[in-house]
Amino acid sequence: MTNILGIETSCDETAAAVVADGRTIRSNVVASQVDLHAQYGGVFPEMASRQHILNIMPVIQQAMDDAHLSWDDLAAIAVTYGPGLPGSLLVGVNTAKGLAYGRGLPLIGVNHIEAHVYTNWLEIPGSGQHPTPEFPLLCLIVSGGHTELILMRGHGQYERLGGTIDDAAGEAFDKVGRLLGLPYPGGPAIEQAAKLGNPTAFDLPRAWLKDSYDFSFSGLKTAVLRVVQKYGDEITSPAERAVPAEAPPLVRNLPVSDLAASFQAAVVDVLTEKTRQAAEAYGVKQVLLAGGVAANRTLRQTMVERVGVPVLCPPPYLSTDNATGVAVVGYHRLRAGQISGWDLDVEPNLRLV
Ligand code: KG4
Ligand code: ZN
Repeated sequence: MTNILGIETSCDETAAAVVADGRTIRSNVVASQVDLHAQYGGVFPEMASRQHILNIMPVIQQAMDDAHLSWDDLAAIAVTYGPGLPGSLLVGVNTAKGLAYGRGLPLIGVNHIEAHVYTNWLEIPGSGQHPTPEFPLLCLIVSGGHTELILMRGHGQYERLGGTIDDAAGEAFDKVGRLLGLPYPGGPAIEQAAKLGNPTAFDLPRAWLKDSYDFSFSGLKTAVLRVVQKYGDEITSPAERAVPAEAPPLVRNLPVSDLAASFQAAVVDVLTEKTRQAAEAYGVKQVLLAGGVAANRTLRQTMVERVGVPVLCPPPYLSTDNATGVAVVGYHRLRAGQISGWDLDVEPNLRLV
């Protein structure tokens, strides 16, 4: 058994996991800072890194305890070194370095986006599912910071077909959640609100960006803002109208559920249709979904219904940030002899391709 300890601190989750042979999760610990940042309506970078400092050792110790392993049972330590918030990444990278050096273990720097992709290779605990991604495959990575459509012809081989030209899909969910007065993060809150809404209630725009696999969500966000403003204009009380534009709306009678459902439908439409077209054009065997937005059930279901090939997607708790994928990528790197040096530095703007 090749046991890899993965460590992830790129944004606001402090996470550690042990994965055996790049497939079997032996432990998966995530300390979320969501409640801490919710009061600011988004991630507060300095607070995130300080919270990582407090959480990192207990989280790693918990991951080792849950896996029932000693340090001698590990083959390597893998850690996210980008992309992400510099101060947050530094905590994970420096901790991983100290532990690897102290225990005489190889250190492996991992790209956060690649870690999201590779959660699709994990066995799903308790489900009896053993997903087997087959190349060539198409991967749609949709998170708070990224929206990328990537063709993979083999392990570690990435060809970028397109991506967002403005907001990431998750960013759009978060911003629209704010406009609707929903709690942070917007994605899960919109999904919840949309359950009670009519997805055809508002005819919101879809940016098809013809003949390209690129995405754009800023026009959609502005269209939602216009609807919110329209309802806001109906408020006559001067006290209520004095609320600044960027504050959560004090808009009476705003049909939040219908607007959430219509917005979600617009995002899902574009993501699904472009993925379907690319899957057909490149003759891929499968489509993989990855990243926090892949936790969205409407997106997952619509993909399965409309894309003509099998769709693989990790369960929601493995779609949002965690360290299992870091350990899976670490396993493949270790097998390929690709070890990082002790000068491994954070790369906040690291790209996949
Ligand atoms: O991958 P992730 O945990 O962190 C990044 O690497 O960015 O993704 C977080 C993003 C947030 O924008 C959040 O609103 C979105 O994923 N998200 C969702 C859902 N759950 C999380 N978006 C739509 N529906 C969801 N159920
Ligand atoms: Zn992520």
